[in-house]
Amino acid sequence: MRPLILYLLLFILVNRVYGNRHFRLGRRENGNLGAPGAFEDNETPAPKWFSQKLDHSNPSDLRTWNQRYYMNDSFYDYEDPGPIFLMIGGEGPADPRWMVKGTWIEYAKLFKALCFNLEHRYYGESRPTTDLSVKNLQFLSSQQALADLANFINAMNQKLKLRKNVKWMVFGGSYPGSLAAWLRMKYPHLVYGAVSSSAPLLAKVDFMEYFQVVVKALREKTGGDDCVNHLKEGMQQVDMMLKANPEVIEKEFKVCSPFQGVSANDLKNFFNSIADDFADLVQYNEDNRFSVDEKYKNVTINTVCKILTDSEGNKAAYKKLAEFNAITLEKSHETCMDYNYGKMINELRAVEWKENTGGARQWMYQTCTEFGFYQTSSGAADIFGNHFDLDFFVQQCMDIFGQKYNLDFIRNAVAWTNTKYGALDIEVTRVVYVQGSVDPWHALGILKTQDNGAPAIYINGTAHCANMYSPSDNDSTELTEARVEIQQFLDSWLREP
Ligand SMILES: *[C@@H]1O[C@H](CO)[C@@H](O)[C@H](O)[C@H]1NC(C)=O
Ligand SMILES: *[C@@H]1O[C@H](CO)[C@@H](O)[C@H](O)[C@H]1NC(C)=O
Ligand SMILES: *[C@@H]1O[C@H](CO)[C@@H](O)[C@H](O)[C@H]1NC(C)=O
Ligand SMILES: *[C@@H]1O[C@H](CO)[C@@H](O)[C@H](O)[C@H]1NC(C)=O
Repeated sequence: MRPLILYLLLFILVNRVYGNRHFRLGRRENGNLGAPGAFEDNETPAPKWFSQKLDHSNPSDLRTWNQRYYMNDSFYDYEDPGPIFLMIGGEGPADPRWMVKGTWIEYAKLFKALCFNLEHRYYGESRPTTDLSVKNLQFLSSQQALADLANFINAMNQKLKLRKNVKWMVFGGSYPGSLAAWLRMKYPHLVYGAVSSSAPLLAKVDFMEYFQVVVKALREKTGGDDCVNHLKEGMQQVDMMLKANPEVIEKEFKVCSPFQGVSANDLKNFFNSIADDFADLVQYNEDNRFSVDEKYKNVTINTVCKILTDSEGNKAAYKKLAEFNAITLEKSHETCMDYNYGKMINELRAVEWKENTGGARQWMYQTCTEFGFYQTSSGAADIFGNHFDLDFFVQQCMDIFGQKYNLDFIRNAVAWTNTKYGALDIEVTRVVYVQGSVDPWHALGILKTQDNGAPAIYINGTAHCANMYSPSDNDSTELTEARVEIQQFLDSWLREP
């Protein structure tokens, strides 16, 4: 029952090779809305600015600020207008390369859509307040961001004199994936449909399932327990040697400062960093994101597990972990492994915009006041050791933003988020939820088509937001089919009278 046009699209998809995306909701690499391709391939549109209200919850507050957005109208026919596509910005600077690349651009070509990308308030150049003090951060929330989007849609409808029944389709991956579904739910008169990719719809303080999926993915992708067993052994050796021969670990893991006299939080940070290397490895496994350095494209679950399970030379398990650690340090251009807790907190306490271009402080604030999402070791303590528990993350909220942001505060905030949006019981139609089995975030998302008809696509074997990148020759059949399926949903919604 698939029209010919779908086969044509499939043909286009598998024959175009570009595109990448990269973002992790964790502390170390948050907010990187990454790149679907290199800059030199296409020219990207120039930024535009939208006068946005500061506080949507207070009509008498007339303060405004300038929000950045991008537009691509190359596929749009003003004489015979098609739909409007809106990519929702997330916890990092908006990247104009998404205006010319990525799967949604392929869809836009097909449906002759007008494309927008609205940067999320408080990230990138969209700066509503003079700085990021706790007082000024009161206007940073998903609720305000949704109101920004609604206000933007209304304004564009007027500015471009769009016809009354124009269909806005919204797209988002990861946190913006949740925003896409919530926007459709809260503003159904403005938004016709949504593609919600890798969306964590359930807010959760202790996201212990994250590392459980990491372990499961390592097993599944390598077809056995070998890799995980070596990882576990390595972690146990590191733990023991830290007590008995710390200098060996210092040297092997290239730490920036010796372990003598360090605090408990420093050590938690150290173990969290090693575990996070595996988190990144799994979350972004073979996801087609663009990297400036082709050299690291082969750092995948399979190649890293080969290092871990390699029996040649009879190397100790901890040394193999150190080998992987060295690769990740090199990849991120770090000369040594910095696990200093105080330094990390100080960086996150900086309130100037120029010190927060990546969005780490802003995203941390959103986790402390809305989502939790703390990737603790509690669910996979048998593999990684129970070194970074919930206390470690709650302590960070308190140390960065103040004593008020304690466990009680976070629990209440997270409960309210779930009440407000419905979590996994969200009631909304014309939203397609897309998740990947290798992406740890799927544990907080919708995997099955809903009773109300909102469809779900659960892709076997793919990582975070894999469907959003432009296709590659090496994509699995499952991933290729998922992209086509999403296009079918768009097609059927756009055909509705
Ligand atoms: C829109 O995207 C297409 C496809 O990448 C590109 O060729 C075109 O230059 C873009 N148009 C604008 C106005 O940026
Ligand atoms: C990736 O390839 C390079 C060059 O072929 C090689 O030196 C490196 O060891 C490989 N990395 C992994 C993780 O396999
Ligand atoms: C997922 O893919 C793997 C490897 O390709 C396969 O072994 C497994 O049976 C698949 N699972 C499902 C539920 O299709
Ligand atoms: C596909 O995989 C092969 C073998 O791993 C690799 O040489 C090639 O560069 C990959 N192609 C793309 C487009 O990533």
